[in-house]
Amino acid sequence: MVVLANRLPFDLEQQPDGTTKARQAPGGLVTALAPILSRREGAWIGWPGSPGVELEPTTTDGLTLQPIALTESEVDDYYEGFSNATLWPLYHDAVAPSEFHRPWWDAYRLVNERFAQRAAEVAAPNATVWIHDYQLQLVPQMLRRLRPDVRIGFFLHIPFPPAELFNRLPWRRQILTGLLGADLIGFQLPGGTRNFVRLAKSLLDVPTSGGLLHYDGRTIKAGAFPISIDSAAQSALAATPEVHEAARKLRADLGNPSKIILGVDRLDYTKGIDVRLRAFRELLAEKDPSVDDAVMIQIATPSRERLESYIKMREGIERQVGSLNGDYGKIGRPAVHYLHQSLPREELAAFYVAADVMTVTPLRDGMNLVAKEYVACRVDGGGTLLLSEFTGAARELRAALQVNPYDTDGVKDGLRAALTMTSVAARRQMRSLRRQVLTHDVDRWAAAFLSSLEGTRDHVADARSRLPIDVLEALSEISETERLLVGTDFDGTLAPIVDDPATARALPEAVEALRSLATIPGTIVAVISGRSLADLRLLLGDTDSLLLIGSHGAEVASVSTDGSQNPEHTGRSELPPAAATRLARLRRALQGITSEYKGVKLEPKPTGIAVHLRGAHAEDARAVTTAIEQDPATWPGVHLLRGKMVLELTVVATDKGRALQALARENHCTATMFIGDDITDENAFLSLSSPDVGVKVGSGTTAADVRIADPARVADLLHVLDAARRRASTRLSRTASGV
Ligand code: ADP
Ligand code: G6P
Repeated sequence: MVVLANRLPFDLEQQPDGTTKARQAPGGLVTALAPILSRREGAWIGWPGSPGVELEPTTTDGLTLQPIALTESEVDDYYEGFSNATLWPLYHDAVAPSEFHRPWWDAYRLVNERFAQRAAEVAAPNATVWIHDYQLQLVPQMLRRLRPDVRIGFFLHIPFPPAELFNRLPWRRQILTGLLGADLIGFQLPGGTRNFVRLAKSLLDVPTSGGLLHYDGRTIKAGAFPISIDSAAQSALAATPEVHEAARKLRADLGNPSKIILGVDRLDYTKGIDVRLRAFRELLAEKDPSVDDAVMIQIATPSRERLESYIKMREGIERQVGSLNGDYGKIGRPAVHYLHQSLPREELAAFYVAADVMTVTPLRDGMNLVAKEYVACRVDGGGTLLLSEFTGAARELRAALQVNPYDTDGVKDGLRAALTMTSVAARRQMRSLRRQVLTHDVDRWAAAFLSSLEGTRDHVADARSRLPIDVLEALSEISETERLLVGTDFDGTLAPIVDDPATARALPEAVEALRSLATIPGTIVAVISGRSLADLRLLLGDTDSLLLIGSHGAEVASVSTDGSQNPEHTGRSELPPAAATRLARLRRALQGITSEYKGVKLEPKPTGIAVHLRGAHAEDARAVTTAIEQDPATWPGVHLLRGKMVLELTVVATDKGRALQALARENHCTATMFIGDDITDENAFLSLSSPDVGVKVGSGTTAADVRIADPARVADLLHVLDAARRRASTRLSRTASGV
């Protein structure tokens, strides 16, 4: 998987001595994605957080960080400009004015293109690429142009605005088409999905049905996937003795006030930090509570510090804190403790554990993970959450005390209610909140998104893209025949070759496609192998409609009139007495020849014996081959078949070609396709004639018509044939019934 986000999980700073220093990047996106990516292999493409820093990719524990360098002016125009002064306020209910500047848009396009190019370079064929957030909304379409084979998911971490706001954007159509390059577009809430679908319909005339959009010949899914945190890890962190002790010490350092009110946010104007300070100020003015009873702590991570709107907001908040403390604080007991710092996760957890009331009062927030972190940390079942109804979290955390941040009286009432809530009521609230947060964690979110994305995959189209053109042409032609026989070898064709034949296993996708093919009317599917029939049954399991032919055609499972096989009966495998005597003599002779050579294995079969040479030294293999060729292979009634590192001696005259032709005749087939890799499969290829098709797997001279690389491509071929045959079969049955 390849993940793209504006930021890497770490801010990487280049030190004067050439080394780099890393610290966790700010914000909820990184909080959510970092634990998921640490458990997977893949790549994360992002900006290292400082302008002009050019770094090489680094890999740790299977995750490769792919840094994208941004110049000073790109940081100004793409990041601070278009991303954070145009889109951020617009998407957050325009709580601050948005600015629209054409050079910012140009930079946004350019940087999005760079991200798309890097993803195109590092993504494996048919990889899943997951693009995140408002800074990269053009990447889905750009990447699709460069790499049509990859699956593209996009998730927006912030709200998607309604038409009244979105339509202000001069580049509104470009943004929508950018997003529509994805296969799945995820939003935090159903409201975001609705806004997006309506806009695609009204601005681009995109036909829609439910959450599906039909655009550019593709079907795109849109849906809500509310993000979360690593709840178990956060809970476990809060339960450690160290965090417990730190929380106790914190309370003591504050003079053991009866109530601690906490706020934890990135210093952002969307977070409504001013709202809670104002409400607290009014409560203190009314002495309900008094500064002796309650203290507020506001921890604010520095964020986007060069932007004018953020500078102004910081000044405003610091003025508010100063005036609150000036008016209501006492020596040694300020009303508000304000930290403009980013704290380590353990320290933050101690604050959560110590706080009686958590205030989360954004004017608008896509989700707000701080609210979920507070709940996860309350392992003791205590604490009260005051939550703005304009956060995404409010939809899930119904039991919280919810407030409208624009209603100062409402926030005051909420804060007062939180401070005076009985411990029984608070525990009831927290129990319900914990149930929600612990069962809806970030792993569940990622699994829901990725499985929905996987569901958009067109497996047949993917398989087609991996097959050579001559194979595709042959498949399309042969699928139209009236009665089709599909025969395949087992080892090296359905199952990758392994050193010990006993451990060979068929690729499940190949078997699934074979079974599916066999259910199509007018289609006969047979596995024809040098292995014994009993072996094939064991390896292919319950075979239903698949025909199994063992020992190069000497053993055929009988098929009942309804097409299903009778597993009790092995048809022609009973040997006449003369052949049985020949087989016993052959066994003795082969034992005599091979007993002295290490690594040579004899495999007795009902109608012959296989001599496996794969485990022997080359010299020994040659000696055994010569001895067999000069003696038992020359006996009347004994037949030698040469495979790759295996000699097959049988006492009945058969080979895969005869077996295949017998099958085609018995089933009145009008065309046959045979797929095989071994030298013994050449008999089958040689028995074919137009319109039949022989498919050779792997290298080596062959009489087959076309060639594919390995068993994985066999699975692809069977899937494509299955789909084509299904379509043809519908057409054939319509023609037959005169429809
Ligand atoms: P946003 O993504 O808008 O910043 P969220 O509430 O979704 O808002 O996520 C904020 C993340 O940043 C949380 O994981 C929170 O723990 C972390 N965080 C917020 N403030 C601080 C801080 N002062 N120190 C360290 N981490 C912080
Ligand atoms: C929010 C956004 C993220 C962003 C984070 C921090 O969570 O949704 O995309 O990374 O804030 O903001 P920053 O501008 O510092 O990356």
